[in-house]
Amino acid sequence: MTRPTSRNAADTDPGPEQVRREDELVARVVESFAASPDPRLRLLMQALTRHLHAFIREVRLTEDELFAAIRFLTDAGHLTDDERQELILLSDVLGASMQTITVNNQAFGDATEATVLGPFHTESSPEIEPGGDVAGAASGMPCWVEGTVRDGQGLPVPHARIEVWEADDRGRYDVQYADDRVAGRAHLRTDASGGYRFWAVKPTPYPIPDDGPVGAMLRAVGRSPVRASHLHFLVTAPGYRRLVTHIFVEGDEQLVVGDSVFGVRDSLIKPFEDQAGGTPAPDGRDLGGRPWTRTRFDIVLAPEG
Ligand code: BEZ
Ligand code: FE
Repeated sequence: MTRPTSRNAADTDPGPEQVRREDELVARVVESFAASPDPRLRLLMQALTRHLHAFIREVRLTEDELFAAIRFLTDAGHLTDDERQELILLSDVLGASMQTITVNNQAFGDATEATVLGPFHTESSPEIEPGGDVAGAASGMPCWVEGTVRDGQGLPVPHARIEVWEADDRGRYDVQYADDRVAGRAHLRTDASGGYRFWAVKPTPYPIPDDGPVGAMLRAVGRSPVRASHLHFLVTAPGYRRLVTHIFVEGDEQLVVGDSVFGVRDSLIKPFEDQAGGTPAPDGRDLGGRPWTRTRFDIVLAPEG
């Protein structure tokens, strides 16, 4: 391999005296947190200091780069309010949200894997009956979703609460429209044998909000803001770990390009079987001759704790 002709600070060996000064500063900052009365806070701040300084030293961060980073965070903060959370979006595109979810949802047998909640979950949603319609006024190809909720031993979890939300086929959630529509979201309960079924619309890819500093950063590094097509689930039942997850659409091109927030797990990619117009629906619903699709998602809950 030929050596580059121009060297930057990152290539330069700092030398023993420089290393001593940098080490001494890290030690002093770490020590400044030693008397914290909260041991968890002490651990967090000391580890943050070590990793942050290691980053600065590894890349030989320039002062201009530090100020650019501060400007970036300032801009992200200014854009953040009750409606728009640019800093969570930053955590999402850095994979920090997904890593924190992974750490906090330890693998347990064949329990369904968790993924990101995202900013479009709302506290309330309409309740639907088994076989009801999540989509409401959301446009898209009708999609029949069915499955079961079971525990680690394969026993049904009756009366589990399943919350579902999704974007329409224009790539927008109801809360992204200027009116007060509620569409593409609902909750329902599993039946006595842990089964559930509902109508939704087939998920399609959509971009995360990319008109702020996070979008600018993605463009600067040549990354796509698009999320792989998905349907969100939040499943709760007494005695079980709360499950926040999605299902993804097998064959979706965006699975190859990459999901902008790293939310994909192979176990969550499901086949969607597209049906020609006129094919009878599982519940006899009249779809007016439109094509529709169907999928199955069997959920396994981990015990609480
Ligand atoms: C979402 O899936 O709704 C989402 C997740 C993370 C960032 C933006 C959107
Ligand atoms: Fe989403």
